[in-house]
Amino acid sequence: MATQAAEAPPTPYDLLGGYAVIERIVNRFYDLMDSDPAYAELRALHAPDLAPMRSSLASFLAGWSGGPRDWFENNQGKCMNSAHKGVTINRDTADQWADAMGRAIADCGPENTQLGEAMAEMLGRLATSMARG
Ligand code: HEM
Repeated sequence: MATQAAEAPPTPYDLLGGYAVIERIVNRFYDLMDSDPAYAELRALHAPDLAPMRSSLASFLAGWSGGPRDWFENNQGKCMNSAHKGVTINRDTADQWADAMGRAIADCGPENTQLGEAMAEMLGRLATSMARG
């Protein structure tokens, strides 16, 4: 993992608590998706094995928040649209995604609750913007 230069301002990734906190949030997100019937429709869109998504989403969020960019380097040219090609995202499943992520961040997010709330709001807006119909 790259070391920040001493004088570099902290990124949101650093402020969140780095990979450990992102991994914790992502694991909670998929645990909720896998167990709460409120997310059954969202769960059904995913493959039976969520392990690849646990590592993929954590890696994505690390780069998204200013940390290691492995996901972006390994998925050059991929965007949120192409990553979801063939996935039918409607208002309900987008809301389920946003809700589960909001809960995961509230349960396992950073000590800085304001930062956690900002992260939940941005990801919620991103999910909502992906709904088609
Ligand atoms: C709006 C509701 C969303 C739904 C219904 C949804 C659903 C899915 C599904 C079904 C997959 C394929 C996983 C599999 O086959 O098991 C996927 C992949 C993925 N999603 Fe979402 N997603 C949503 C929102 C988001 C958001 C907001 C993000 C980012 C913050 C995101 C990040 C990803 C990533 C990184 C992948 C893996 C792409 C790859 O590495 O190839 N998704 N999503």
